[in-house]
Amino acid sequence: MTIRERTPADDDTIRHLNDTAFGGTDESRLIEDLRTAGLVAVELVAVDPMVDGHILFSALDVTVRGKPVRALALAPMAVQPHRQRRGIGSALVRAGLQQARERGWQAVVVLGHQDYYPRFGFSAALARPLEAPFSGASFMAIELEPGVLQGGEGRVVYPPPFGIAI
Ligand SMILES: CC(C)(COP(=O)(O)OP(=O)(O)OC[C@H]1O[C@@H](n2cnc3c(N)ncnc32)[C@H](O)[C@@H]1OP(=O)(O)O)[C@@H](O)C(=O)NCCC(=O)NCCS
Repeated sequence: MTIRERTPADDDTIRHLNDTAFGGTDESRLIEDLRTAGLVAVELVAVDPMVDGHILFSALDVTVRGKPVRALALAPMAVQPHRQRRGIGSALVRAGLQQARERGWQAVVVLGHQDYYPRFGFSAALARPLEAPFSGASFMAIELEPGVLQGGEGRVVYPPPFGIAI
């Protein structure tokens, strides 16, 4: 399996992959809106030999103690249903976090399966002090720069493509 950057030639496959994995078009619409808004920071596909996994990280506003943190939202990610549970999703998350770290991003937040993301270091406890549209065990964060989310209250504001009323 190869993990590589998305190219525009992948986009039809990525749309179909997300529609199939999620059973609807909300996520593929989100992907297109994030690209149009210029918010995509890391977008990768897994190829083996076809594109059967996709992950996207986009910039969002996070402040801690009033200071901006260079942060990303992980959303969405998907693996073809018949190729799931073979490590493709894990490889995409790890490669995406690595690339985000190399590009100087300091933290990532995710709203997702509470049994899945902690294995990569995401923590609901880390996200708890952040004022956000989400809370609870499914709202998690990871620091790519140690300590960047700690030491005080913070705030997370999702950009318009997420369609979240503030
Ligand atoms: C979530 C998803 C991307 C994982 O991809 P994957 O390639 O199957 O993941 P991996 O093979 O690396 O890991 C498999 C693990 O994910 C876990 N997992 C998969 N879907 C899960 C879910 N809905 N809730 C909790 N854990 C889940 C499996 O239990 C398995 O855990 P195990 O290793 O302890 O058995 C894939 O299942 C998917 O596309 N799901 C539909 C879309 C979706 O829900 N996207 C994520 C939105 S937050």
